Amino acid sequence: MLILGIETSCDETAAAVVRDGRIIESNVIASQADLHRRFGGVVPELASRKHIERLLPVIDEALEQSGVALRDLDAVAVTYGPGLVGALAVGVAAAKSLALSLDRPLVGVNHLEGHIYAAFLTDPDLPFPALALVVSGAHTDLVGMPDHGQYHVLGRTRDDAAGEAFDKIARAMGLGYPGGPEIDRLARMGDPRAVPLPAPMAFRRSSGRVDDSLEFSFSGIKTAALRRLYAAAAGDGQFKANLAAGFQRVVVEVLVDKTMRAARSLGVKTVIVVGGVAANTLLRAEVERACAAAGYRLVVPPPLLCTDNAVMIAAAGYYRLTRGYRSDLGLGAYSDLSLEQTPNNSSP
Ligand code: KG4
Ligand code: ZN
Repeated sequence: MLILGIETSCDETAAAVVRDGRIIESNVIASQADLHRRFGGVVPELASRKHIERLLPVIDEALEQSGVALRDLDAVAVTYGPGLVGALAVGVAAAKSLALSLDRPLVGVNHLEGHIYAAFLTDPDLPFPALALVVSGAHTDLVGMPDHGQYHVLGRTRDDAAGEAFDKIARAMGLGYPGGPEIDRLARMGDPRAVPLPAPMAFRRSSGRVDDSLEFSFSGIKTAALRRLYAAAAGDGQFKANLAAGFQRVVVEVLVDKTMRAARSLGVKTVIVVGGVAANTLLRAEVERACAAAGYRLVVPPPLLCTDNAVMIAAAGYYRLTRGYRSDLGLGAYSDLSLEQTPNNSSP
């Protein structure tokens, strides 16, 4: 089964052709990072306009690279939320038009479900039950997954997403956008213990009180890091590297700690780490160490499948279609769309 995936929820215009939910025939991503860089973050109105300009050429290129003709497609899968509603609407409108004109099924995919399905491209036979950490610029969610298409959100961030905190600190340091990869690079030159920062909602607080919540909070550590930055001498490169390393260490410790506790509490077989921040080198190394010690199968897709792409949308769409799910042409775009409420076998 050949599925065209379309993703326009934020600042990546992406299209991909995937065979049988696992074989990548093409993967085209037109990033708008250059456009948004000078604003230090994504400007929703500009994002929508760029998607309009770029989506059809991106779809054409995905078809051309795969050697698949439009008429050979079996279905169209598209992200319909959560995300920037004006950006999502561009992808949804294009997907509906294609499905209607080709007379093929349309399937709406939750963006977070898409991130999770990047894991099934890497390891299609991963054993259930699984626990997924979805950690991106907009989300930090721990999701229990007893089987395909079934989700229980165990915890999420109460304020900033982990990626958002990376981006804001990078911006204050005068690094580029998106900030996560810049902090990742700079941290390699720093001492992670040189600048102490508070561990946010960590398991054992300095007071000795045990906090066993699976919720996250990153605004406190972000503010603490910003205060340290503003108090330091401008132009002290080594201080910045130390701060980047310290911030990254604390964020990764909390992510790994809570993921492992959630995995233990559910008794899972597999741990999945996905979303843009899953591209982080320290997070990848630390979660690998923790899963090896605890005996969990770990699936972390390659970095290109961790950040936003349409391959993951086509893959999630494939599993939905094989369960008999179809969307109708009334499919909307939703800025807020919960994984648990995403309908499983009927039209949204
Ligand atoms: O999944 P994604 O592409 O878009 C959303 O759905 O949000 O995630 C983008 C986020 C950004 O905040 C970016 O800074 C972060 O992922 N990111 C990283 C790294 N690469 C991307 N964060 C830390 N380390 C990285 N290497
Ligand atoms: Zn994403």
